[in-house]
Amino acid sequence: MRMVDLIEKKRNGKSHSKEEIEFIIDGYSNDTIPDYQISAWAMAIYFQDMNQQERAFLTDAIVQSGDTIDLSAIEGVKVDKHSTGGVGDTTTLVLAPLVASLGVPVAKMSGRGLGHTGGTIDKLEAIPGFSVEISNQQFIDLVNTNKAAVIGQTQNLTPADKKLYGLRDVTATVNSIPLIASSIMSKKIASGADAIVLDVKTGAGAFMKELSESKELAEAMVRIGNNLGRQTSAVISDMSQPLGFMIGNALEVKEAIDTLKGHGPEDLTELCMTLGSHMVVLANKASTLTEARELLQEAISSGKALEQFKVFIESQNGDSSVIDEPEKLPQAKYKVDVLAESEGYISGIVADQIGTAAMLLGAGRATKTSEIDLAVGIELRKKIGDKVQKGEPLVTIYANNQDVDASKQKIVASYEISSEKVDVPPLVYDVIS
Ligand code: URA
Ligand code: CA
Repeated sequence: MRMVDLIEKKRNGKSHSKEEIEFIIDGYSNDTIPDYQISAWAMAIYFQDMNQQERAFLTDAIVQSGDTIDLSAIEGVKVDKHSTGGVGDTTTLVLAPLVASLGVPVAKMSGRGLGHTGGTIDKLEAIPGFSVEISNQQFIDLVNTNKAAVIGQTQNLTPADKKLYGLRDVTATVNSIPLIASSIMSKKIASGADAIVLDVKTGAGAFMKELSESKELAEAMVRIGNNLGRQTSAVISDMSQPLGFMIGNALEVKEAIDTLKGHGPEDLTELCMTLGSHMVVLANKASTLTEARELLQEAISSGKALEQFKVFIESQNGDSSVIDEPEKLPQAKYKVDVLAESEGYISGIVADQIGTAAMLLGAGRATKTSEIDLAVGIELRKKIGDKVQKGEPLVTIYANNQDVDASKQKIVASYEISSEKVDVPPLVYDVIS
């Protein structure tokens, strides 16, 4: 096989066989196919697309490029949840203990990564003592005994995706449905999920800004999952504003605790109920979404979910007294309100701008080696549909540095204020399974 022929084939809109896709991904992984040929191929895919079979073959080839995690020693159906993009998304912190309290095994392999806030691991490390430095065996034992554990990504998972993503980033080929879908699904499958619930965000702050594109992406991922033997469902949820009120590491832990206590933000609670119901059904712990939702509500009202969080924190050496004394979480030195410059109704909060504002405060990493400040972040005081008077706080900044001007500018720019009354957007647009 010659790569030039395969590029030509894709350029002319033909489909690849499994062998051809494996040849390309293997060749790229071991450097026998150069970047420039892969770039041309990715661009051909961008314009010519891939059919469902090719997408599944590509995903599988990326999975096979590195290690895969074997979770078969964990009893039960391992259901993973993945949210595409979004800002201040606190759902993982809530869902892990919530669904685990119903006996669904949660074996979370997570990263730190770049972004507006830290990854799930950074957030959990805001809890004093909490450690993800556990062995694979401890990880498996913990899930078997306590139903939930989180471990850092140490294994060499999907190296072909890392390489390809880096190349796509500089060749204007990120925004391609088959390439995004195979990239995301390969990581879920390599980390051992039996079943997958996807939370595909849509709106100004999401990867896919148009609902039609978000649906297309969701459908593509669901088909790949099902094609590769993983039951997969997708929920398309709103990102025309950040979820909940808090964006930041310790701040989101506090918000997750509130939610598990039954008094979290309405939108965050509702999305967790929706995603959680799908997880519980896929794990065979309920036969309908309605039944699953009732079980989840009962887990919150009875305190079972909160108790599960406590056990989870303690089993990874964390100080669970933060549940009742959240002031033990890292606290920022300064609180600065950002005030509305005009009156009206909030019509949009561009989530990625708010995210950048949080990153400028130190809540996230701009580069791999940046230090993260777990205490800092942003509290949204107004959300879409709210009325605001000139001079009223839009957000409160939590900072450890008095100079917050750069962050403030981003926040003011991210808030859209309309003179007309604005309806609250729907939270869930569609479900695909
Ligand atoms: N996130 C990923 O993991 N991969 C993509 O291709 C796009 C977003
Ligand atoms: Ca949040």
